[in-house]
Amino acid sequence: MAQTILVTGGAGYIGSHTVLQLLLGGYKAVVVDNLDNSSPIAIKRVQELAGKHGPNLTFHQMDLRDKPALEKLFASTKFDAVIHFAGLKAVGESVAKPLMYYNNNLIGTIALLEVMAAYGCKKLVFSSSATVYGWPKEVPCTEEFPLSAANPYGRTKLVIEEICRDIHRADSGWKIILLRYFNPVGAHPSGYIGEDPRGIPNNLMPFVQQVAVGRRPALTVYGNDYATKDGTGVRDYIHVVDLADGHIAALCKLSDPSIGCEVYNLGTGKGTSVLEMVAAFEKASGKKIPMVLAGRRPGDAEVVYASTDKAKRELKWKAKYGIDEMCLDQWNWASKNPYGYGSPESAA
Ligand code: NAD
Ligand code: WQD
Repeated sequence: MAQTILVTGGAGYIGSHTVLQLLLGGYKAVVVDNLDNSSPIAIKRVQELAGKHGPNLTFHQMDLRDKPALEKLFASTKFDAVIHFAGLKAVGESVAKPLMYYNNNLIGTIALLEVMAAYGCKKLVFSSSATVYGWPKEVPCTEEFPLSAANPYGRTKLVIEEICRDIHRADSGWKIILLRYFNPVGAHPSGYIGEDPRGIPNNLMPFVQQVAVGRRPALTVYGNDYATKDGTGVRDYIHVVDLADGHIAALCKLSDPSIGCEVYNLGTGKGTSVLEMVAAFEKASGKKIPMVLAGRRPGDAEVVYASTDKAKRELKWKAKYGIDEMCLDQWNWASKNPYGYGSPESAA
């Protein structure tokens, strides 16, 4: 029988791509999202892309902190596992509005875990982040590296990881996988779903994409004096479809009786500089991306990329796509949807 997976934040960027892979993989998906940072159109498009599997997706517009609503959902549906994406993720905003981040990310997660426990659903995949490695002393980052948080957003990820380790320590019936994503970019190759940030994008590729479609005049490059090949920051960019597939691998791993509370990096293991990424995007799109050099962005690390050995070994998962495919798919989405799921009027 098909497994039924609750996907919190499933209307968002990574969530929508993961829900599609779940449906195509024969799972049933129930999405809970308050649509604070996403559009119902994403859900509709995932359903369309899933073809005959589309009816296996159900959507509930709901805030995770609405515990009675969550309880009602668990009372009516038996979930085999939960993939928990829902949360706020803008680093700068978290510095300006820490209480909003602690309230949303921590209280939402605690409500979810309490309801899961009450209904005996103890299998969880959680969206953690490479941000928990801070400015790593060396690369590649292995899962054993010391953890730190440079901002309230990162601190919510660290605290949730610790909560997960604690609940597993208290009750070994919990099976939990913490996935530390590196830098997700790109879009589904159909160009039908992709990332659609509200306001001015914080991350590199959504910004580059908006320059390419004429919504912003130039990319600001934060720092060209790092000790890297061209002086700009180096990151591990990973295609969002690879990342989505990593969640399916993690779900399968949850059925391994030896699993407790485990952590895996999801990255490619390759470092790419800002200038290399821009060059790859220019090649993929045929568009020139004007750049303005500026100072380093506070809190930015110099070089961050993943060790992928543990995920390869234990999840039997590895990324298939390189930066050329990431940029081609990002451009395909951007050129077909220059205003994301919205319109010029709804864009900032
Ligand atoms: P996203 O903003 O596109 O998706 C998050 C979704 O959660 C949104 O649809 C939002 O409306 C929903 N949401 C937020 N708070 C909610 C609440 N209280 N109740 C119900 N729904 C709520 O972000 P994303 O890029 O898809 O990220 C998904 C997860 O992965 C997040 O937890 C994020 O912190 C984590 N992550 C993202 C990145 C990245 O660079 N995109 C990197 C590492 C980790
Ligand atoms: C990448 C590189 C910038 C924007 C962030 C979060 C992290 C995780 C992923 C959620 C850096 C440079 C960027 C711009 C630029 N998210 N840059 N101009 O900082 O690695 O990670 O997203 O968990 O927590 O911190 O990603 O895309 O912001 O930056 O020059 O307009 O691009 O300095 O070198 P980052 P990013």
